[in-house]
Amino acid sequence: MKKTVTICFTNNKGGSGKSTTCSNVGAAMARAGKKVLLVDGDMQLNLSLSFFSEEKVLEMAAGEMNLYHAIGGQKDLTDYIVHTPYEGLDLIPSSTQMSSIEYELFTKWQREFILKKCLQKIKAAGTYDYILIDAPPTLGGWVMNILCASDRVLVPVEASPWGMFGLANMFDFLDEVKEIAPELQVLGIVITKADTRKAYFKQTLETLKDMDGIRLLDSVIRVDSSIEWAQDASAPVVEFKKSSRSAKEYTELAEEVMDRVSR
Ligand SMILES: Nc1ncnc2c1ncn2[C@@H]1O[C@H](COP(=O)(O)OP(=O)(O)O)[C@@H](O)[C@H]1O
Ligand SMILES: [Mg+2]
Repeated sequence: MKKTVTICFTNNKGGSGKSTTCSNVGAAMARAGKKVLLVDGDMQLNLSLSFFSEEKVLEMAAGEMNLYHAIGGQKDLTDYIVHTPYEGLDLIPSSTQMSSIEYELFTKWQREFILKKCLQKIKAAGTYDYILIDAPPTLGGWVMNILCASDRVLVPVEASPWGMFGLANMFDFLDEVKEIAPELQVLGIVITKADTRKAYFKQTLETLKDMDGIRLLDSVIRVDSSIEWAQDASAPVVEFKKSSRSAKEYTELAEEVMDRVSR
């Protein structure tokens, strides 16, 4: 039986590369022979759109078999798993109704731990090597649920002035969550959408390296239009264009993550 490791991708800044990173790290892990379950925790449905057509994603979102209904009914998520077109890679789809998830959680007993409970049977079954959860760009009770259900958290950060702004808040929030989820470990920051030729990128890198107590992953994901073409084709870039720069970088990142997790 496998020991399943749950990793979430969070940053309250939108557009920092959470969904792109979650989908591609997951797809790269699956390509490396691992069994991976992706959980789409965002009402924007971007993780689901990385694997299925708009039509299919909207159909799953409008139905009953998605994360919103599972959380509302505190159901075992096993029944909500769908297979992606790729071997070893499954998904729990989201819903646009996730916009009212905070309200849904508000009246519940031990409301920070609902997602953890819903994932319990899947973890105990040991079917998956990794569960990867894509978080929305917020820092409320739902993201708290995502963090409490996770063993590790990875923070994708865009190498831009506004990408850096608010990072301290994010890490303060993680410290708060650790008080109720002491086992949660911060894997670190991964820089995304980097233009390594720019002087600004070099400055960002130095700033992040100097931040106290924050680990920066070695892998850097550079800007690459292949990512947009892949998303347009409802596929992760590691499958859509294996020869692309970003496919190679995401494969390296997945290896780095698996290596750090196993230490
Ligand atoms: N390395 C990259 N190169 C080019 N565009 C990227 C890259 N990573 C992400 N993007 C684009 O940036 C936007 C935001 O990325 P996304 O993963 O959706 O961020 P988040 O989930 O944090 O909001 C998307 O439109 C995506 O296509
Ligand atoms: Mg997203």
